[in-house]
Amino acid sequence: MTTTVDLTDLDMWARGAPYREFARLRREAPVAWFGEAPPHSGFWSVHGYSDIITASRDVATFSSARGISFEEPTDEDMAARRTIIDTDPPVHTKLRKIVSGSFTQRAVAVYQHFVEGLTEEVLDTGLASGAFDFVDAVAKEVPIRVLARIMGLPGDDLDTFIDLGDRLIANTDPEITDVVWGRDDTDAYRRYPFRSPYGKQLWDLGRDIVAERLRSPGDDLLSTLLRAEVDGDRLTETDLDNFFSILVIAGNETTRIAIAQGVLAFCEHPEQWDRLRADPGLLDTATEEVLRWTCPTHFMRRTATADTELGGAHIRAGDKVLLWYVSGNRDSGGFDDPEAFDIARSPNRHLSFGRGGPHLCLGAHVARLEVRIVLAALARRVAGFELAGPPRRIRSNFTNGLRELPVRARPA
Ligand code: HEM
Repeated sequence: MTTTVDLTDLDMWARGAPYREFARLRREAPVAWFGEAPPHSGFWSVHGYSDIITASRDVATFSSARGISFEEPTDEDMAARRTIIDTDPPVHTKLRKIVSGSFTQRAVAVYQHFVEGLTEEVLDTGLASGAFDFVDAVAKEVPIRVLARIMGLPGDDLDTFIDLGDRLIANTDPEITDVVWGRDDTDAYRRYPFRSPYGKQLWDLGRDIVAERLRSPGDDLLSTLLRAEVDGDRLTETDLDNFFSILVIAGNETTRIAIAQGVLAFCEHPEQWDRLRADPGLLDTATEEVLRWTCPTHFMRRTATADTELGGAHIRAGDKVLLWYVSGNRDSGGFDDPEAFDIARSPNRHLSFGRGGPHLCLGAHVARLEVRIVLAALARRVAGFELAGPPRRIRSNFTNGLRELPVRARPA
């Protein structure tokens, strides 16, 4: 098959995710090889629902230890910036054990009232009478405050966290960061998160907060990390830097995207908004459908540790393998009528948090709680959304982020 689409063409992604191309790839080349210009190696691209789950499960063959992005980091780079998401068992199992107790459904339920109160406050000021940017006024305000509460981050720094997180996750968008991966020489930053100087700034900010927490420990997640031991040893400064950065980055932007892209989906499918308002019993399935449809993280990368076969393709040890959750979420092999945005969809075993493997999103219950509470509050207050201008997407094939979503919200 000729691969007519270039999945590394970020200007294409800035216009919209290539759903039609993915549909064609799922039919014609469920696991396909794509070349890349040197110094990049090229990659296997996995498009189908079940192949993605197979690879996620088989962590011995499909390793996370080379990182989860398109980059080609050296061993030294990885050693400096490896977070939990870049580890394989047994190291992964030990790190996950430290934090998993704080993210169970029961542990997270404690935040329900806090998130409800916060959401009402944000909507009181955010929902304007005329046209407004939903990303700026609402979507970006909730996740960072929830994260601050869980991690014990100081309120004064929240805008800085948002800004640094944006510059990292959107490290390919020149309108968001001045150090652009793939355009600029980023060699000097290769040991920092996202190969960016802003990764270092995030670590530095984290170190100040950790120092403060060492002086006065609390019952927040950072204090848990400071108390934690792995095989009898405390976490090193590098471990703490990297735990801090992944929690801030993974917990903030992703949830913001689900909320903003979810509202965009309702602008485009107003009958589904009417349906949700008429039947709040649909909130749980609507939340899952928003997560499937919006797929905030488009892919995760793995690296083959041995020659293997997946979806008819012969993968060699050392090859880079991209698992496109954004494609699997629209696969008829995983969902009935996948191109329909259906808020009553059930079952809905989407891939937006990963599926089948040990890296399944740690914050899935937090994200679900936030999306459900924001949807519920909006459904009470807003009779209908309509676009007030074109949405502006982030130039990235990794995140499904929106920079701007101009809307009008008709009061209920
Ligand atoms: C809608 C929101 C979110 C989405 C779509 C999302 C998506 C993901 C995905 C796709 C993975 C990798 C799964 C895999 O490779 O199998 C992941 C891992 C992770 N997520 Fe989330 N995430 C979200 C919210 C959160 C939140 C709120 C937090 C923290 C408060 C969080 C923390 C993490 C962490 C720490 C990992 C790494 C887990 C590991 O390696 O064991 N995420 N997430």
